[in-house]
Amino acid sequence: RQYKLAIIKGDGIGPEIIDEAIKVLDAVSSHENFELSYSDFLMGGAAIDVFGEPLPEETVQGCLKADAILFGAIGGEKWDTLPREKRPETGLLNLRKALGVFANLRPVSVYDELVNASTLKPEVLKGVDMMVVRELTGGIYFGQPRAKEAERAYNTMVYTKEEIVRIAKVAFESAMKRRKQVCSVDKANVLEVSQLWRETVEEVAKEYPEVSLSHMYVDNAAMQMIRNPKQFDVVLTGNIFGDILSDEASMISGSIGLLPSASVGGQVGLFEPIHGSAPDITGQGIANPIATILSAAMMLRFALGEESAASRIEKAVQQVLKEGYRTKDLSAYEAKEVCSTSEIGSIIAS
Ligand code: NAI
Ligand code: MG
Repeated sequence: RQYKLAIIKGDGIGPEIIDEAIKVLDAVSSHENFELSYSDFLMGGAAIDVFGEPLPEETVQGCLKADAILFGAIGGEKWDTLPREKRPETGLLNLRKALGVFANLRPVSVYDELVNASTLKPEVLKGVDMMVVRELTGGIYFGQPRAKEAERAYNTMVYTKEEIVRIAKVAFESAMKRRKQVCSVDKANVLEVSQLWRETVEEVAKEYPEVSLSHMYVDNAAMQMIRNPKQFDVVLTGNIFGDILSDEASMISGSIGLLPSASVGGQVGLFEPIHGSAPDITGQGIANPIATILSAAMMLRFALGEESAASRIEKAVQQVLKEGYRTKDLSAYEAKEVCSTSEIGSIIAS
C-alpha cells in the first residue's frame, strides 16, 4: 500500500515538530506494510513571504490530491499587522473551508506518568478520557456581516440546521465507539443560535437511542472541565466554544504540546496539533513534538485505515513518557531526562 501525504510545515515551531513526526512515520511504515510519500506545500507566513498570500492555489490543489494532510502550525508577529484576509490564520481557515472539513476531533486523555502534585489533584485527573467534537467551518469565525469600523465592530454567529445536524452526527457516531455519552455545550439561555443548536441536537439524538445526551451552558462547562473532567465522554460544541474549551481541556493532560487533532468530514482529512506556532520558543529545540506525532497517528487511523500503525505510535509515546523522557514543557512531571525536540522524536521513533 502506498499513500501520498501533503505536508505543511508552516511557521514558528511548525518545521521542527513536523520533522519529528516524519521521523516517526518513516519508522512505523518500515515495520508495517505500506509506503509513504511526502510533498511539501506552503501556507501561512511562509507562503506570504514567497507568494504574497497565505494560501496559494498550488497548496489547495496539492492537498486535494493527497490521501491526507499533516500540518504543523502557522502565524507569527511578522505578519500580525497585515489586513485579515492576508494574514496566516486566514490561510488555515480557508484551507479547512476548501477541504470541507467541518468536524474537528480533539481527544483529551491523561497519562498516569504526568499526574502529580504540580497539576490538578490526581484524583480529579486519573482516568480522564474525553473527545471534544468541535464544529469547524461555521459560527462566528465565518458569519456575515462582519466589520471593524472606527468606533464600532461586529461579527455574526450563524449556524444552519444542516450544519448542526452533520456535526451532531459525528459526535453521536464517535460516542457509539466510546462510552455512549454526548454532552452538547451551548449558550441557549442567551443566544438564538444556541436554541436552534439544542433543538437540532435533540432531534439527531433520536437516531441514536443508545447514546445518552445532556446539555450544558458553556460557562458551566468551562468550570466542570476543571472540577470534574471525568464526567465527559464526547463533548459536542460549535466553533468558538470548542476552540476555547479544547485549549482549556489541554491543560488537563499536562501540556498543550501533547494534544493532537483531526479535521474530517470533507474530501481530504487535515491532521494537526491543537497548539499554534509558539514563537516564544521557536528555534530553541525545546518544542514538544508529541502533539504532532499523535496527529500523525490519528491520520493513519482516520484517513488511511492503518489502525495497527496508529496504535503502535500511541504505545511508543506512552512508553517513552513512562520511561521518564520529557521535553521542557513537561519537565515538572518527574523527568528522568529532559530531551530536545529531536531527541524525543528519535526516542519515540526507535
Ligand atoms: P501557541 O499555541 O502557539 O502557544 C501558547 C503557549 O504554549 C506558548 O507559551 C508556547 O510556547 C506553548 N506551546 C505551544 N505549543 C508547544 C509545544 N509543542 N511545545 C511546547 N510548548 C508549546 O499560541 P499563541 O502563543 O497564542 O499563538 C502563537 C501564534 O500561533 C499566533 O500567531 C497564533 O495566531 C498562531 N496560532 C496558530 C494556530 C494554528 O496554526 N493552528 C493555532 C493557534 C494559534
Ligand atoms: Mg485555539
